Amino acid sequence: MSPIIIANWKMNNSLKESEEFCQKISSTNYINNLIIAPPAPYLAYLVRDFADLNFCAQDVSIFDVNGAYTGEYSANMLKSCGVKYCLIGHNERRVLFNESNEIIIRKYQNAIDADLFPIICVGEPLESQYNNYKDHILSQLNFIKDFSSDLIIAYEPAWSIGTQNTPDPERLKHTFEALHNFCKQKSVANKVRLIYGGSVDSNNVKQILSISNIGGVLIGKASIDYTSLMKILDKLYSQ
Ligand code: PGA
Repeated sequence: MSPIIIANWKMNNSLKESEEFCQKISSTNYINNLIIAPPAPYLAYLVRDFADLNFCAQDVSIFDVNGAYTGEYSANMLKSCGVKYCLIGHNERRVLFNESNEIIIRKYQNAIDADLFPIICVGEPLESQYNNYKDHILSQLNFIKDFSSDLIIAYEPAWSIGTQNTPDPERLKHTFEALHNFCKQKSVANKVRLIYGGSVDSNNVKQILSISNIGGVLIGKASIDYTSLMKILDKLYSQ
């Protein structure tokens, strides 16, 4: 199974830069397993102009019907723009915007109901780097009651995001084994793809993806610039 590569641009790049990036990447051979998550205001333009690329929203509203929710955009609105995927519960949302598991589950349900493919982010915060971190991750997933749709679960330890620290391979192996066993217990191992995120770059991507049960990567900083993302993709797909 080819790995999924998700480029999470966060709040970076102008519309013009984003268009130039998409223009360049769409003429490469790497687009099939690539999902791009640009800032929300660009989504409708990019989906319309680059129909061969896959786009993802970085967030979605907890509200599911239209109404007086200034600043929000619903899962149905994203769907109507042609967006296919949606990140939910990214660590930056959990920490900077106080998103609880209850909020994340509502967003998840809205995404499924609108037929958006959900990508749920989980991971231990800084303070549980060493203690009971697996329990913490599984508790974030235990909130999910409805596993009826296909799902991507992105494991991103807070201490790895934007820090150039990645978990050592042995730790990653055990973490993904625990995630895989969780999915097996829920009888959804065949519906869930597990991916890793946090300081992925061209030097570590191959090693990370060689670990069992890791089916892709979620890349932040190293995906914002075209040359940097291409370096990762070249590394991954060249022999
Ligand atoms: P990073 O971000 O690659 O810059 O560590 C990953 C993420 O936040 O998804």
